[in-house]
Amino acid sequence: MGKVRIRLDPLGKEIAAERGTSLMDVLHEYGVEFPCGGRGTCGKCKVKIIQGEITPDSLHFKRLEEHAWSPEWRLACMSRADSDLVLEVGQFEVLIQADETTFDFKASDGYGVAVDLGTTSLVAQLVELSSARVLAVETALNPQRRYGSDLISRLEHALIHGSEYLTSMIRKELGSMISKLLSNRDISLDRVVMVGNTVMQHLFAGLDIRPLSFYPFESPDLGTRKFTAAELGWDIDCERIEFYPSIGSFVGSDILAGIHATGMWHRQEYSVLVDLGTNGEIVVGNREGLWCASTAAGPAFEGARISMGMLATTGAISSVEQGAEGITCSVIGNVPASGICGSGLIDAVSVLLETGQLGGFGEILSGQPKLSLTGEVVLTQKDIQEFQLAKAAIAAGLFILLRKLGLGKEDIADVYIAGAFGNYINLEKMLYTGMMDFPLDRFHKLGNSALIGAKMFLFSEGEKADEILAHCHHMNLESEKDFQDIFVDRLSFTQASS
Ligand code: FES
Repeated sequence: MGKVRIRLDPLGKEIAAERGTSLMDVLHEYGVEFPCGGRGTCGKCKVKIIQGEITPDSLHFKRLEEHAWSPEWRLACMSRADSDLVLEVGQFEVLIQADETTFDFKASDGYGVAVDLGTTSLVAQLVELSSARVLAVETALNPQRRYGSDLISRLEHALIHGSEYLTSMIRKELGSMISKLLSNRDISLDRVVMVGNTVMQHLFAGLDIRPLSFYPFESPDLGTRKFTAAELGWDIDCERIEFYPSIGSFVGSDILAGIHATGMWHRQEYSVLVDLGTNGEIVVGNREGLWCASTAAGPAFEGARISMGMLATTGAISSVEQGAEGITCSVIGNVPASGICGSGLIDAVSVLLETGQLGGFGEILSGQPKLSLTGEVVLTQKDIQEFQLAKAAIAAGLFILLRKLGLGKEDIADVYIAGAFGNYINLEKMLYTGMMDFPLDRFHKLGNSALIGAKMFLFSEGEKADEILAHCHHMNLESEKDFQDIFVDRLSFTQASS
């Protein structure tokens, strides 16, 4: 196959990728959003070919005609890197996107950095505040991952060994990412806005994590944390570094930012936001109020607790189809499969149900202990059970929040899917598993809504965050007396397989 080189302008970033890799796989890592999930309809993923060649297939060609751009533009979501390329990424040049409309930002002088501090990955974007242009992007894996891939194991590690080391390692990593963003640029940084889940906020800020570890799981330290670069030991000049406030004990500022990105907090119609990241957070409501909760759904979708699970990165099976010849798998980065990520897991379970290889209770009907997907990658009976726990957590959470507001699924105008692998999700297959139950045309894939929201927060003085926070009510799902019954009821696939 061989490698090709791709340069992303205006960042000047050089990437090596396997020949034939989809540009969606490549660009996703750099914070590029794919709002229509790669259907080619929204046009937000456009890239301009500066050097090289991308030959569109007939559907891609049709979509380009519909957008009526000049001939050098392509849709990244429908393109593959078959040769060396230099591309100008449209999203890095245009205004911030929110809810598929242009965000009306208030220009100011100077520069800001938006940071999404995820449990698994970190993204930082340098933004020119006069134009909202992204000038540079840095990404990294969260170095704390070696102490547990999900929040619970990270908390356990911190409880046993202390959290100081976890705090210093994440501060160091983000400090060096921001230094890289500023290197070779003669600019001074006005502010940094950081968002992340509550555990990440506590660990970054050096707060006591014990309240998040024991019943009633309520921390007194959910508000905005402010620092200077000197306090964090960062080798840059910046007096204003803010970690934005959490909504509740397990609903962090990443969700606050996601709410901002969707605009759901100021609309009359009801919307749902589901983040299938580590924590499985759900928000339901409208401008009268938003109800927010977290579920324990995330780890399975991020590869934890799945025998061959992995993040949505190179080598992960990201989609599974049943064709005439049997099961076919798409692998991120166009390389041999080394594991399966959340979207692949959802697809696989759906295909196995549809083809009668799994029963209504998730049992492998052949009686074998595992099912082979491709090459070495298999799903075990325990993997299927982990999936059932995750999908039941989401389904039960949605049911309880809708019930709280006296709403039915028909009352929901928009369903936003966020999360690391959200762009790759096949919605029909996800619906087939029973995880959610809304009409297909209500769904919008957001990608990294936390990062979009963090960028948007760079253009307000904190009052937007306060306004959104004032709309939010946090709910502990497990305090509902029938939670267990609802959860257990949703473990099975009996609806899907009947
Ligand atoms: S057109 Fe590519 S993501 Fe919408």
